[in-house]
Amino acid sequence: MSILKALWPLRTAEAPAAEEPPPPAAVRAADVSQGPFRALVESLPDPVLVIEGDPDEPASRRIVFANAAARDLLPGRLEGMRLVTALRNPELLEAVDEALLGAPGSAQMEAGGAQERIWAVQTRPLGQGNFGRLALLTLRDETDVRRAERMRVDFLANASHELRTPLASLSGFIETLRGHAKDDEQARETFLGIMQAQAERMRRLIDDLMSLSRIELNEHIAPEGRLDLALAVTDVLDALVPLVREKNLCVSTQMPARGAADIDGDRDQILQVIQNLVENAVKYSGNEGALSITVSAPVADDSTTPALDPAATRITLLAPDRPAGRRFALLRVTDQGPGIPRDRLPRLTERFYRVEGQKSGGTRPGTGLGLAIVKHIVNRHRGGMAVESAEGRGASFSVWLPLAEKEAT
Ligand SMILES: Nc1ncnc2c1ncn2[C@@H]1O[C@H](COP(=O)(O)OP(=O)(O)OP(=O)(O)O)[C@@H](O)[C@H]1O
Ligand SMILES: [Mg+2]
Repeated sequence: MSILKALWPLRTAEAPAAEEPPPPAAVRAADVSQGPFRALVESLPDPVLVIEGDPDEPASRRIVFANAAARDLLPGRLEGMRLVTALRNPELLEAVDEALLGAPGSAQMEAGGAQERIWAVQTRPLGQGNFGRLALLTLRDETDVRRAERMRVDFLANASHELRTPLASLSGFIETLRGHAKDDEQARETFLGIMQAQAERMRRLIDDLMSLSRIELNEHIAPEGRLDLALAVTDVLDALVPLVREKNLCVSTQMPARGAADIDGDRDQILQVIQNLVENAVKYSGNEGALSITVSAPVADDSTTPALDPAATRITLLAPDRPAGRRFALLRVTDQGPGIPRDRLPRLTERFYRVEGQKSGGTRPGTGLGLAIVKHIVNRHRGGMAVESAEGRGASFSVWLPLAEKEAT
């Protein structure tokens, strides 16, 4: 028996005459509710509908079968309902027409609501039914695929744009140096200095992009190695002393006892996390500001950390993985810089995102990749990340990393 016959036992012998009015919806629904394959179609995860109608008579198109996924998606009692009552998308209705006329059709449907979804619609002819032609209509949720596609396109556009800007500046200076500035020694020195800074910016951008793609590639692989988070923070601070001196910043630290903040992690990646956060705090702080860097362990999770400033907004940028009893080491980097407006906070970890109008000071404009890299590394380590800030009142970034399991002695 074909699947079709099992779902719609066709009454060939006593088929009603063409002019006979269609029976009430309840009768038709009963016809299609029988058959051994119903359970199969019923449990398909994608919405499936069968439409019956006269291809020349748009108003005659009715739903004669809807599986559970279709009933979840569309309100009301679907079987027996006119198609236009359930679905009004003109492209979709056209695709149904095509199937009723004997050819496969396809369409895309965007459904609004709280969460916008994009559906790929496919229609297929199913032959003659009791009261008209039959068409199969399936819907597939393609929201995530389309979103990923859009992100990829945006990413390529942003990366090319970021590379093109310093490249255009380099070409411009080369032309000037070959032209009217050829014999001007002072101009040559200035231009070569700018060119070096632009080349350095391109190198940093490429390093960051490669770092991000390497991290993403290994994101599902658990990191190997063990390190003391507090010692790693001290190492990073030692390396950043010149930068801190340049701005005359006052740095205060608070660290737990040696070994208390041991974590399982990739040392290089954890150093990258600390470096990005501390570098941001330094970069966005005004001269002579104060930074506070604390490591605490053990802590339960982010909800137990007290807010530093009641006027600040706190946002979780990445929720940590919290199996029962898991304990974390917490790194908190707080500055007294310009802070970040509330509505910008959720976007901080997007690639290339920079809060507009913010001065990083000095000749090191950021690429906007630092916090995206931090988020991916912390995610690989099953940790969490949050930011707390208010405009004009500084910012505080927190990262939780699961503590290493103590070996039984
Ligand atoms: N401590 C901070 N205070 C104020 N704004 C910050 C702070 N940290 C980050 N931001 C804002 O968030 C944006 C994104 O930060 P991110 O570290 O991802 O990029 P970046 O610092 O601009 O560049 P990169 O880190 O790649 O050199 C920054 O451009 C800045 O606008
Ligand atoms: Mg940064």
